[in-house]
Amino acid sequence: MGTRVIIYSGKGGTGKTTISAASASLIASRGKKVLIMSSDPAHSLSDVIGKAISRDEVTELAPNLFGLEVDTVYEMRKSMGGFQKFMANAYEGRGVDSSVAAELSNQPGMDEILALNRLLIEYKSNKWDCIIVDTAPTGNTLRLLAYPEMIIGGTSGKNFFKVYRGFSSFVRPFRQQTPNDEFFKEVNNLMEMMNELSAFIVADDVSVRLVLNPEKLPVMETKRAYTFLSLYGIKMDSVIINKILPREKQLGAYFDYWVELQAKYIKEIEESFNPMPIFGSILEDEEPIGVNKLIPVADKLFGTSDPIQKLYDHPLIWLEEMTANPRAPKETHRRLCVRLPFIDEQDELYIAHNGTDVNVTAGRLQRAVSLPRVLVHSDLVNFYYEDGILKMEFSEKPPEEIAWTDDPFFVGSNK
Ligand SMILES: Nc1ncnc2c1ncn2[C@@H]1O[C@H](COP(=O)(O)OP(=O)(O)OP(=O)(O)O)[C@@H](O)[C@H]1O
Ligand SMILES: [Mg+2]
Repeated sequence: MGTRVIIYSGKGGTGKTTISAASASLIASRGKKVLIMSSDPAHSLSDVIGKAISRDEVTELAPNLFGLEVDTVYEMRKSMGGFQKFMANAYEGRGVDSSVAAELSNQPGMDEILALNRLLIEYKSNKWDCIIVDTAPTGNTLRLLAYPEMIIGGTSGKNFFKVYRGFSSFVRPFRQQTPNDEFFKEVNNLMEMMNELSAFIVADDVSVRLVLNPEKLPVMETKRAYTFLSLYGIKMDSVIINKILPREKQLGAYFDYWVELQAKYIKEIEESFNPMPIFGSILEDEEPIGVNKLIPVADKLFGTSDPIQKLYDHPLIWLEEMTANPRAPKETHRRLCVRLPFIDEQDELYIAHNGTDVNVTAGRLQRAVSLPRVLVHSDLVNFYYEDGILKMEFSEKPPEEIAWTDDPFFVGSNK
């Protein structure tokens, strides 16, 4: 078996570090060699494990369990020193103070890219049965996974660098702020790194697990992440609801409200993420710190499922381009496919489209699907249910024909 990679992602404070560390500890206790990695500059992984973790070398934390807190400042200097210097100089040239310029030259998303690159290096080393990644609490880590090339401007950025490189040697004597060869070498390396990363991140061995709490904002954000990641071919294999208030305990009247509210969101989570497996973890009566406290958390969480395995392995949401409709050749037609295997074929299917979401009702099932951005200005024109997959056809008018309206409108039912 190759190295299994599991990335835990979710909104700030939901328990990503705790759940990552707990699963890593459990898998290691079962005899697999595990590396847990974090790129969070806040050292939270050391805090949760209760041991210092080195920033550039792998540290042994328990039998079979190793940790690494990636130091992105160090990784940046190592691989992108020239790039950083050029950017800093360019900002300084505009009158920005040098320390501020150094900070600005750290392109947004670069930290994540460098941390991912370190992950790729560990993955390729073949030293690990499993690598668990605890992501930092930035909402956009996963967005960057999907299109790392964005940082340097995608294909047009690449072309720019190619053309500019040819020019640079002869412009240099006349212009002060022309990047040197080191800059271009690093940018080229960076582009290669990103190409490799985009292929790696959708590899079969890699899964993302979404961690959330049963509360409004994490549920909403996780729904968006679900659509987004699915569309980019990033595989998710489970959803983890953390910090559920224990129901069997007498918590008193004050908590009745919270217990009920959580129950409502748990139901919504179940409806929103099926058919992916959903696991739940209760709010423990103390903070689970240290391997010995973490193992039981993961043990209860996963029950009879083995956390190193792929817990789900099918595409969940995808887009298909459709051929143009001869009656409306200027419109763009796309089909959004959503895997919803639990709909009873006999049930009447209702779909309501309200701009950013579609709400699906079939019998007792209710499901809100966040639309990918590319469909936000499209009209839902047709839908049908086939082999467990809901297929919705959207058509987008050319921009000059779009009538702007915010009103939700009902599309109809299939019966
Ligand atoms: N199931 C749980 N029971 C009790 N305490 C928990 C549980 N899960 C997490 N905690 C506590 O909640 C706090 C936040 O958890 P954690 O640091 O794992 O979240 P995070 O999502 O990694 O946060 P950040 O987004 O800041 O990285 C910690 O103090 C942790 O000990
Ligand atoms: Mg954390």
